[in-house]
Amino acid sequence: MLLKVEGLSKSFGALMAVHNVNLEVDEEEQVAIIGPNGAGKTTFFNLLTGYLPKDSGKVLFDGEDLTKLSSDQIIRKRVGRSFQIVNIYPETSVFESIQMTLIASRRKSYDLFSPAKKMYREETERILEAVGLTELKYVPGGSLSHGDKKRVEMGMVLALKPRLVLLDEPTAGMAPEETLATMALVKELAEKEHLTMIFTEHDMSVVFAWAKRIVVMYQGTIIADGQPEEIKGNPEVRKVYLGERR
Ligand SMILES: Nc1ncnc2c1ncn2[C@@H]1O[C@H](COP(=O)(O)OP(=O)(O)O)[C@@H](O)[C@H]1O
Ligand SMILES: [Mg+2]
Repeated sequence: MLLKVEGLSKSFGALMAVHNVNLEVDEEEQVAIIGPNGAGKTTFFNLLTGYLPKDSGKVLFDGEDLTKLSSDQIIRKRVGRSFQIVNIYPETSVFESIQMTLIASRRKSYDLFSPAKKMYREETERILEAVGLTELKYVPGGSLSHGDKKRVEMGMVLALKPRLVLLDEPTAGMAPEETLATMALVKELAEKEHLTMIFTEHDMSVVFAWAKRIVVMYQGTIIADGQPEEIKGNPEVRKVYLGERR
């Protein structure tokens, strides 16, 4: 098992945003966490990655206790994440964004005699290829479409050589066809790079097409965890989602 979360909780005042969450994820498993807006998905990721202090609970990654580590230390354990709101540099080219991430994440292996710009070119090219951005590599981040920005972000996550990738709503704000293309890319990357991946999504229909395991969050807790068929037939899940549509 790669990730084991035990009794994770976080309150904001009286609101229990994440309440006693337990989750186990195996190596190379791909897990979709779905749940309506406000369910606690982003907070859960923030707790896992050390962006928010936990009230209680424990996070074990490959047997190592990450509970007390800072977000920087957790990244160095090769836990990569993307954010629900895209944050890439608008003036920086796609190529440089990826290359800078590579350089920043491998500080130790700096070669003093090689200028930064020459470093990691090949690896940058490989990542650009993987996320389908080779043709846009000289375009500044700010001029990209929303979907392509998300690709850059995913490339930046890959540059961290993660063992576990957390993607927070990778299709947020996308048109339907862009959503499909992005989901296909995520799936392809996960398989090709042998990644363990957890991603969140608020729209149920997006994940049913291919997720093998779906975890449903509602009001800070996990209310269901299983294969798509089980999730579809789960009465509590139906209540949450049908209730939302009324
Ligand atoms: N920093 C914060 N301060 C106060 N309340 C927050 C904060 N972050 C999230 N919340 C609240 O916690 C709940 C869960 O939010 P969030 O984790 O963003 O849900 P999701 O990602 O599933 O939409 C929501 O009610 C939200 O308003
Ligand atoms: Mg969220």
